[in-house]
Order: sequence, then C-alpha cells, then structure tokens
Amino acid sequence: MLQTNTVNINLGDGSLNPGFRDVDGGSAAEDPGKEKRDPEYAQIKPYAGMPKEVLLLHSCKARYRVPREILFWLMVACTLALVALTVTVIALSPRCMNWWQVSPVYQVYLRSFKDSDGDGVGDLKGIQKQLEHFQYLNIKSVWVSPFYRSPLRDSGYDVEDFRAIDPLFGTMQDFEKLLAEMHSKGLKLIVDLIPNHTSDRHRWFNLSRTGDPHYKDYYVWSDCNGSAPRPNNWVSVFGNSAWTYDDVRGQCYLHQFLKEQPDLNFRNPHVRKEMTDIIHFWLEKGVDGFRVGAVNRLLEAAHLRDEPQVDPKKAPESVASVWDLHHDYTTSQLGLHDLLRDWRAEMQAYSREPGRYRFMVTESYDYHEVDKTMMYYGTSLVKESDFPFNFYLLDLPQNTSGLWVKHLVQLWMANMPKGQWPNWLVGNHDQPRIASSAGHTYIRAINMLLLTLPGTPTTYYGEEIGMENNNGTDGPSASQDPQRSPMQWSSDMNAGFNNKTNTTWLPLHPDYRSINVKAQMEDEGSVLAQYRSLNTLRQSELPFLRGWFCFVHADASVFSYLRELDGLSRAFLMVLNFGGEPAVTDLSSVPELPDLLTVQMSTNRSNDDKVLHKSRIPTEAGEGLVIQYTTNTRFHPNHPEQCYVSEKACYLSAVDLLYQC
Ligand code: GLC
Repeated sequence: MLQTNTVNINLGDGSLNPGFRDVDGGSAAEDPGKEKRDPEYAQIKPYAGMPKEVLLLHSCKARYRVPREILFWLMVACTLALVALTVTVIALSPRCMNWWQVSPVYQVYLRSFKDSDGDGVGDLKGIQKQLEHFQYLNIKSVWVSPFYRSPLRDSGYDVEDFRAIDPLFGTMQDFEKLLAEMHSKGLKLIVDLIPNHTSDRHRWFNLSRTGDPHYKDYYVWSDCNGSAPRPNNWVSVFGNSAWTYDDVRGQCYLHQFLKEQPDLNFRNPHVRKEMTDIIHFWLEKGVDGFRVGAVNRLLEAAHLRDEPQVDPKKAPESVASVWDLHHDYTTSQLGLHDLLRDWRAEMQAYSREPGRYRFMVTESYDYHEVDKTMMYYGTSLVKESDFPFNFYLLDLPQNTSGLWVKHLVQLWMANMPKGQWPNWLVGNHDQPRIASSAGHTYIRAINMLLLTLPGTPTTYYGEEIGMENNNGTDGPSASQDPQRSPMQWSSDMNAGFNNKTNTTWLPLHPDYRSINVKAQMEDEGSVLAQYRSLNTLRQSELPFLRGWFCFVHADASVFSYLRELDGLSRAFLMVLNFGGEPAVTDLSSVPELPDLLTVQMSTNRSNDDKVLHKSRIPTEAGEGLVIQYTTNTRFHPNHPEQCYVSEKACYLSAVDLLYQC
C-alpha cells in the first residue's frame, strides 16, 4: 500500500520574493521579514550595483515596468519584422547561378592534351599537371573525352568496359587523384556517357552473339541471309550499311556508327538497368556531370522499315551516305526522352548537397530540325539536359557576315523554350577547327562572341590560343585528325605536349613555335590574353551573366548586340565585324545609346580606350569591340521582339541588391 508522509519543509526567508508586489507600494507577499526590511530599503534610491533587495523593491514600479514592457514588445515586433524581411528577401532573390552557368565548359580531348609519360599519347596524369591552365583562364568546368577501356577504333567512343580506365590513359587511381585534385581546386569534371553502343569487344556483345539467354537481346539483331543481305536500307553515320552480318550468331546486328560499335537495345529493360548502374558508378566516384553522346540515335523503330530516300530517283543500292536518307526510323524515336528523364532523375538524387549539382549536356545533331534539339531541355515540369549542345554556330564559316552570324544566334534564341539557358560552341573533336574553317582573322571576334552572348560557351582545347587544323596528316582517322593535333603548350620540344620522346600520336601543327600557350601568356595582346580578360569580364559583370541580350544591328559585315540589366546603369555594347572588309557602323538611330562611346576592349588592341561617336563606329575585318556605357534608358522595353532573357533579375543600386522582378 502506498503511504503518503507529510514533510514540513521550512523554505526560510529566501524562498519568497520580498519585492513582489502588484503595483507601486502594494502589499508585499506573505513575508514575515518584510516589516523589518522594507522601511530600511524603501528609503534607498536605485543606484548602479544596488543589492537585489533594493532592485526588487523598485523594479515593479510603473516607471520601470512600463518601459520594460514596451521594450519587450518592441523586441518581439522587431524579430517578427526581421523574419518577414528575411522571407521576402529569400522569395525575391533570383536563383543562384550554378557552376555550369558561370564558367565556360572547356573540352579536353584527352589523347591530345598532355602526355605525362612520354608514350606520345595524352593521359589523365597529364591533365592533372595542367590544371593551372584552367585556373589561369578562370575556367571551372572541364569535360574530358572518353578514357574508358577501349580498342580505340572510334577514339574511345567504342567502350569495352564502362567501369575501367584504358591503360593508355592511366589507372583508376589516376582518375581518382585527378578528380580529387580538381575538386580541391574548385574545378568540376564532366565525363562522357556513351549509351548508344558498346565496342564489339564488350563482354555483353560476346555473350549476345553466342546467344546467352540473358544477353541475346542486349543489341539490335535481325535476320539477314543470302537473298536479303541487309534487313533494310539504314546507313551508318560513317557511311555504308548500318547492318553487319555476324557469322557466330548467323544474324545481322545494327550499328549506327562503326561496325565495331554495335547499337544497344534500349527496349530491353536489362540494358536500361545496366546504363543506370553505370551512371551510378560514376556519380558515386564523384563526377560532376555527363556529356551524353548521340542521344537522338538511342532508339530505332521496331518495325525496321526502310527510311525514305532524300532523292527518290537514286538507285537504292547506291544509298550509302547518311545524307541519302530521311532518318525517320533511326533518330528521335518515341520513348527516347523517357530514357533521358530517367537518367536525369538518377542524377538529381546526387545533386541535393549544396554545390554538388550534377550537370547533363546532350549531343544531338538535328540540323534544320532545331525544335527536336530543343526537346532535350525537357519541359517545365520534367527536366532532361541542362542544355543540349548548340551546334548551329558550326555553320559560321559558311558565310562570314554579320547578318549570317545574327541568323545563327537568333536560331537558338528564338527557338529556345522560355526560361532555359543557352550555350554556344564553334568546335569539338568531330569538327574542323574554327580558326581554320572561318579563318584565323576571325578567331578573336569569335571568342569575343562566345564569351559575351548569354549562356555557357564551350571551348574546344586550343581555341583559346587560336590553334588551327593540322591538315595533310595520315593518322588513324584522316578526316578528324586535323582538329585533334596535340595541344601547343610552348615552343619547346614537342610543343611541351611531352618532353621525353620524339613521338606524338599525331603530328604537331608546325605553327606551334609561334602559336602556343607560353608565348601567348607573355603577350598582353594575344588571343589567349584576350580570351582570359573576356572570361573575367563575363564572370564579373552582372549584365553578361544575368542580363538581357538584345540584337541591335546586323549588316553584311557587322553584328551588334547589347547586354543590360534592369536597375544597373552600366551596360555593354558589342560590335563585331565578321565581314571581309573594314566597316563603319552607324548606330545613331538607337536613342538608348549615349552619343559618345568608349571602347573598353578591342580585339585590335590599338583601338582600346578610343572614344567613338555612335554614328561612326569603325571596325576592321575580324575586329570585335566591347563598349561599356552608362545609361538610365533601357533598350529592351522599347524593342521586346529583339531581346531575350533566361530569368529576369533587377538590381537595386541603393542597397546593392539583386532581386527577381
Ligand atoms: C559521339 C562522338 C563521336 C563518335 C560518336 C560515336 O558523337 O562525339 O566522336 O564518333 O559519338 O561513338
């Protein structure tokens, strides 16, 4: 049974608050000692350092209590106001720019970048040695072409093992070290994802051709025999039939590229799972993004019907080139975007940590069907790539004129879905170098164009020094070798690409003695120096990163556009001469521009700092000008059809604040 004992506790004098009164002079709490103490303390006026008894006696008086309460409620109100202000600021803040938006993407063609061990081939350790180059250029995002184990029939795009490093390029440890060092320097690494096909030496293909039940449908197989040697008229990107007979299996397999690159069958859920696992593998390693290759060719029509000929009169047996057919059944098939959305979703799961966003860029050449390219952005609800590569400026050399360049830029800007982020490139390992195809005269203006347009530019290694095609070589893939010659680091032996032997896997361009990184670092007027200052300008000026882009003028020579940001009086005008002759541009009909314009930067340095009247802006052929000006009149409200912005932002100069508007 529970017993309750009553215990008498003597709380003593200190247990009651002798100063606790209702109001001034009101009756004290039941305190046996109060009569004794109060008269004594009541005489004392409050003073600094007064004993507790005096303090308590006075603290309840209205003249102390009221201000105290006012201060208390003031504090509550201030706290609430602060919270409300914080929420408003957060709600009004424009989205933070992501790393792949702030920095250009630099493409390293691994074989040709830097050879660390003197075997003539660039390697992972080589890249690690040259990280300072990216830092010098203020480049944060680096895409490294494939390093996976491969027989290198298509320079590593024929993968034998998606999880292994080819010994030619180093080891997995080299890769991990490179990635760790890049991360420690704030650099991001983008790698290739090559889902469309494997090498014919891949384990899966061997198991598939020998009819292993699990692997037999990993690739696209179809019957073919003596009377019907090919299942249909489909052709490979590299020419001739896209089908090759395999005598082990006694069937034909599909290859949209080389015959050594059998196409994977993405209608098979096991293949989809394999690719997701590969994505996981590299995300777990810590890579920052993927360049997903040949995405438009991931699926083919299951009915395998012939594709329509471009020239219906052409004899069907002479159809051998990719240009001979309309690719209705081998590109952009239904279901393809679901694959990309799934991969994107995998990547999102790894993007949650701050600063660890995983980036995706897709490669799809859609030529005149630009709307197909735009679909790789996904929709406003379901994301796919951060941007699909914009290949339209590759056509720039077709017609070097201001109007033509404007047309190519507009093609992207006018077709890009609202709110998306543009991107620009003029070269890659599959394309002739722009300095050769457009002409060396234009390389500086082209770099200026890429670095001042809105969105992310991609720089193919060597473009920052104006490297040219090395024609006339007879290496492993004659048509692509010219743009893949070794990087020109210095005028030393082998251009500093390696320093151990006389070999380089492809011959060096003979101009390396004058066109090289070291020489250009020492020359303030070099292509490299200008690339570097333009990149610094781009990343330090809000109008370039966040501002409106507006077409101002285009003619046979000149293309001119501006960048401005609401609320910021500083704006930039670019005047680029892509024509063959000097030109004088008259922008007097643009009232938003001040009459006098000062050249901040010219590709022809002697024109730096010149003050020009807007009615007479002279440029040489191939010259580009960046003009900074001050204005309170915005161009875009008066010419909405000429202007684009990805995400509107405004600047409040009084408090140096950027906000959504
Ligand atoms: C990618 C590569 C290209 C390669 C092709 C097929 O498009 O850029 O070099 O030939 O894939 O693998």
